[in-house]
Amino acid sequence: MQFLCISSLQSLTMQSSLVLSPLPAFIPPLKTTAFRRIRPPSAVAAPPLTTNIRQAVTHSMPPEKVDIFKSLESWAAESVLPLLKPVDQCWQPTEFLPTSSQPFDQFTDEVRALRDRSSDLLDDYFVVLVGDMITEDALPTYQTMINTLDGVRDETGASPNPWAMWTRAWTAEENRHGDLLRTYLYLSGRVDMKMIERTVQYLIGSGMDPGTENNPYLGFVYTSFQERATFVSHGNTARLAKDGGDPVLARICGTIASDEKRHENAYVKIVEKLLEVDPTGAMMAIADMMRKKITMPAHLMYDGQDPSLFEHFSAVAQRLGVYTVDDYADILEYLIGRWKLEKMEGLTGEGRRAQEFVCGLAPRIRKLQERADERAKKMGPRGVKFSWIFNKEVRV
Ligand SMILES: [Fe+2]
Ligand SMILES: [Fe+2]
Repeated sequence: MQFLCISSLQSLTMQSSLVLSPLPAFIPPLKTTAFRRIRPPSAVAAPPLTTNIRQAVTHSMPPEKVDIFKSLESWAAESVLPLLKPVDQCWQPTEFLPTSSQPFDQFTDEVRALRDRSSDLLDDYFVVLVGDMITEDALPTYQTMINTLDGVRDETGASPNPWAMWTRAWTAEENRHGDLLRTYLYLSGRVDMKMIERTVQYLIGSGMDPGTENNPYLGFVYTSFQERATFVSHGNTARLAKDGGDPVLARICGTIASDEKRHENAYVKIVEKLLEVDPTGAMMAIADMMRKKITMPAHLMYDGQDPSLFEHFSAVAQRLGVYTVDDYADILEYLIGRWKLEKMEGLTGEGRRAQEFVCGLAPRIRKLQERADERAKKMGPRGVKFSWIFNKEVRV
């Protein structure tokens, strides 16, 4: 998973320059939500209290709707599980990396070739690639998040329930993404691995707050959006790697993007099914998540130095075109089309209001972005130092 942070979208109208998150947690200020600041447990040492966390709402799905997910178990087994790939047909990180079991000289030749290929890639590209890698590496948080969802969680840790089987196997597929990007970055010699590792540790310790309220309707809308956002983001880092003279890295990012696309298909299919069996409930869930804004999973990232690290990373991703507010609006429009939301009938009054909100949102997001761009232009560029690249300065 990957995608603007709550605070950045929330403060969009307050800030003079736009800060976007790469895996968009982007959010027009359409509705005021109550927020509370949380104090990090001292052992976790999260970012220094600059991050707003949503007000805790838990178990918002009415208990009787758990039966819907129970009744969809055989459908999930037939329609969702086949979107996983058998392990022996899956790519593995080592296929893209120098082979360490060969004679040392040959291994070092391959490492040297990797470094030569990446030598023309710019520092700002590495900032974005590192941010994407860190987002992937906080995978324990995402599996935890999905297992907070009522009616689909893995009740035992090895449950044969198809929802639980999907989540475990999805996690196992995703686990290769962070591994591959991390090893590539390590071998490139271009980044400060210790600061990256520290950021990952902080991030997993901090968790995430997507506002899914233990509610699988909200959870699957979130994952549908996020998987597509990561597909877009990795696709763009692939394109930039190719343009920058590193075809192997381009293949790495492109291969990860194609996994994200397959995962997107699964989650989109689940929401599509919910729209079929419970049109109003599903439509309201989509509207609810879009009102809250889809927060990037790594919105609580911190390296021990920069309390605005996520906003800075997001701003670089926006500038390089890796993940932008336009992408956020595009994803929304794509999902509206894919779920045929504009033509949906049989909704209650509440459902129709939710439909109207969702279907009219993308142009509002784009307009907001245009205004933010104009303000940012007047401010001019500024530089930010990133610990991940040895405190070198990058324009945001
Ligand atoms: Fe993903
Ligand atoms: Fe991923």
